[in-house]
Amino acid sequence: MARLNISPVMVILLLGSVAVTILPGLAVPAPSPAPAQQHLLECANKLGDCGKQVYFAVFVNGTTVTKDCCTRVLSVGKQCHHDLIVYATQRPTFKGNVSEILDKSEQVWNGCVHSTPASLFH
Ligand SMILES: *[C@@H]1O[C@H](CO)[C@@H](O)[C@H](O)[C@H]1NC(C)=O
Ligand SMILES: *[C@@H]1O[C@H](CO)[C@@H](O)[C@H](O)[C@H]1NC(C)=O
Repeated sequence: MARLNISPVMVILLLGSVAVTILPGLAVPAPSPAPAQQHLLECANKLGDCGKQVYFAVFVNGTTVTKDCCTRVLSVGKQCHHDLIVYATQRPTFKGNVSEILDKSEQVWNGCVHSTPASLFH
């Protein structure tokens, strides 16, 4: 459970160079991360490669999330999705409009809900 996987963090950092800097402190996991960071890190881990796609869709206009990644983000859960987006908008480097990003985040989530069969929900 505490096992850390580097690649999703790299995905987040890669994304950060595009629009915002997300979770910079997580690049070098502390021996005992704060609970909030641990939660976010687990969320990023669960999203894996789909994290990049989802957060591009939210922060960069015009990109979409594939069905496979919709399935993934839905199974990871809205709380994780929402928390990662909120965290990103709270970074000092974030320059966008928070309410627009939260709207877009909601749209991306709802878009996934509508494009994914209900039987795939956990
Ligand atoms: C997103 O792109 C569309 C089409 O290019 C454009 O009409 C719209 O204004 C853009 N939205 C934002 C928030 O930039
Ligand atoms: C952010 O976007 C919302 C909705 O488009 C708008 O009402 C608000 O004025 C914007 N805020 C800033 C600071 O630009």
